[in-house]
Amino acid sequence: MKWEIVADYEALSDRAAQNLLSSIRQNPQLVLGLPTGRTPQGMYARVVAECARLYHCFRDVSTFNLDEYVGIAPEHPGSYHTYMRRHLLDHVDVQPERAHIPDGRAGLTGHGALILSPDEGLRQECTRYEGAIADAGGLGLTILGLGTNGHIGFNEPGTPFDSRTRVVNLTESTRRANADLFPEGQVPRQAVTMGIATILSSLSIIVLASGWKKRDAVARLRELEPDPSFPASALRLHPDVTVIADRAAAAL
Ligand code: GLP
Repeated sequence: MKWEIVADYEALSDRAAQNLLSSIRQNPQLVLGLPTGRTPQGMYARVVAECARLYHCFRDVSTFNLDEYVGIAPEHPGSYHTYMRRHLLDHVDVQPERAHIPDGRAGLTGHGALILSPDEGLRQECTRYEGAIADAGGLGLTILGLGTNGHIGFNEPGTPFDSRTRVVNLTESTRRANADLFPEGQVPRQAVTMGIATILSSLSIIVLASGWKKRDAVARLRELEPDPSFPASALRLHPDVTVIADRAAAAL
């Protein structure tokens, strides 16, 4: 695991954007695993600004988001579909059919009517998502944020390291951390997430951690042997992981 400690959030966003763009330059058909959350927003802003100057930055790139909430419409302000459109997809020339986000409403029609049982619809969606990643040639570079409890994607503590894309229950702390965009009492309870084995299948991985709220998680990532009680520790089993942390996150 390589560590890059940078001064602050601005420097972290610069480094992450440079890494992402140079990976695309090296392989214009790159298959990306992409995160949501507050941490990558600065990276996306820089990538979008740079791609406005470069021709066909994302033309042959495929993107796969790590996760999406269950039961939330793509148009909902709190959905990761909305997040990705706002921060990246609406601003770069990625082909719509190559930009993948799990469908957290699989099994429902657009009008909310059931066409399959919800469980069966979501189960099929998880299988389809893994198949789509394989059909694209597998993940080349995956960028991750870090939950304060060590979650990656929405793989909460206790997730087996051999897990694949599936439906998960969110912990109360994760629901609280992501409550901003949902009315009181309507924060989703479940999500579809790539599993830890799906993430580890990526050829290379970058983890972003910013701010003092992440300092315990960063310290544990640095010290802990792989242990499912802290999902990000699985990354220590991977040969090509770079953690980019700012000084506040790396304070311990
Ligand atoms: C959510 C996402 C994760 C993200 C985490 C940290 O739970 N599913 O992929 O890494 O939040 O978010 P933030 O960057 O806002 O701290």
